[in-house]
Amino acid sequence: MTTLATVPDAGWQRWEHRVQTSAHPVAYRLLRSIAARGPVVRVPRVGVVVSDAALARDVLCDTTHFTKTGPGSPSDLWTPVLGPAVLLNMEGPDHTALRRRLSGLFTPGYVTGLCDRVLAQPLAGLTRRLAAGEEADLVAVAKSCAGAAICEITGMPAEPERFAAAHADASEVTKAVRLWRHSLPPRQIRHAREVLGRLTASAVDAYRRGGDDTLPGRLRGLGLTEEEARGAVGAFLLTGTETLVSFIPRLIAICHDTGLLDRLRDGTADTAAVIEEALRVTVPSPVMLRSVARATEVGGVPVAPGDRVVVATLLCAAAYGGFDPGRPHPPELRRLWFGAGPHFCIGMPLAMAQIRAVLDAVLAAGPVVVAGRRTARRVLIPGYARLTLTRRSAP
Ligand code: HEM
Repeated sequence: MTTLATVPDAGWQRWEHRVQTSAHPVAYRLLRSIAARGPVVRVPRVGVVVSDAALARDVLCDTTHFTKTGPGSPSDLWTPVLGPAVLLNMEGPDHTALRRRLSGLFTPGYVTGLCDRVLAQPLAGLTRRLAAGEEADLVAVAKSCAGAAICEITGMPAEPERFAAAHADASEVTKAVRLWRHSLPPRQIRHAREVLGRLTASAVDAYRRGGDDTLPGRLRGLGLTEEEARGAVGAFLLTGTETLVSFIPRLIAICHDTGLLDRLRDGTADTAAVIEEALRVTVPSPVMLRSVARATEVGGVPVAPGDRVVVATLLCAAAYGGFDPGRPHPPELRRLWFGAGPHFCIGMPLAMAQIRAVLDAVLAAGPVVVAGRRTARRVLIPGYARLTLTRRSAP
């Protein structure tokens, strides 16, 4: 079992700090200084910032007082782009009913089959290139895998030459969002709708064809209307693309920097625990937003209808210290990076299957090292712009 004592620091923290500050030079430092002032802090023009895991979970699970549809909530950002009923901007019985119909979508069998179908070929290429002594950029690989998943989600044929363009299109939609932005400017809304319209057009075709061989066809089988299916596809593209492109290279970088790549390969480190702990220290979805629906308090701080609550998951998770895959996560923290309560990430099984598939492909190439890296500047979700791996030469 890997314990804190056996995982060397080896600079992973320095790199993660650079990843965060390259993405948000001001906001990241501001967030950290807010956390130092207390677990719940009211910040003018930002909102009520929560940086304690137990309080964050209370807010996310309390749909009587907090909502995703009021002022300052995600619905302000996404309803103009996606329409009014796409899970992440819904609450109450309609949301529960749609979630219930979608519960049979990302089953273990389906996500394993999806990864085998669309990721096997690009990942076999990655293993082959690394094993042959070539360099490979993990960010490009993660984008290609995201593109492959997008083809599947939108019902397009999963042909490798489409992957880069599919990913570029999906990331166009999230590009305009900034950490502190309450809504999108009209020009960005028009652009995002245009790009999304293009991506979801093939989903509508696949929905109309029906059948179990495409995701939109499966949505029809689960009883979603055409409009609901188009909305669900849009929500998957929005939430399930950049999170993985951010996380996968950071996972590999942390495993490299802590010396865990070798131990994962020889089976002396627990892969599931390493992935979960890397999710904790990176938190690819760094904040969650809620609007206050009814007056209440959070950790003793009174909040009133219309207040914006910023659940700073990144800070909640950071409070539990350095990287230690051998330490179990306490109940209040468990999988908080995938949310909590009725909006808990519906795509988690697909995310975990994709992460595992890329990690396995890297490990299968034999001993590898990071040959070069560059952090991404001024992006919504912090990450690398490039992370080059190469085979480690014999001593
Ligand atoms: C590492 C990757 C991912 C992370 C860290 C992540 C994180 C999250 C978080 C934190 C939420 C809750 C947001 C809130 O309560 O405000 C969420 C919701 C959601 N996620 Fe993920 N996600 C990931 C991958 C995916 C994937 C691959 C998909 C689908 C293809 C997906 C689809 C969704 C959807 C549709 C929701 C909205 C659910 C609802 O509102 O009922 N996510 N995700």
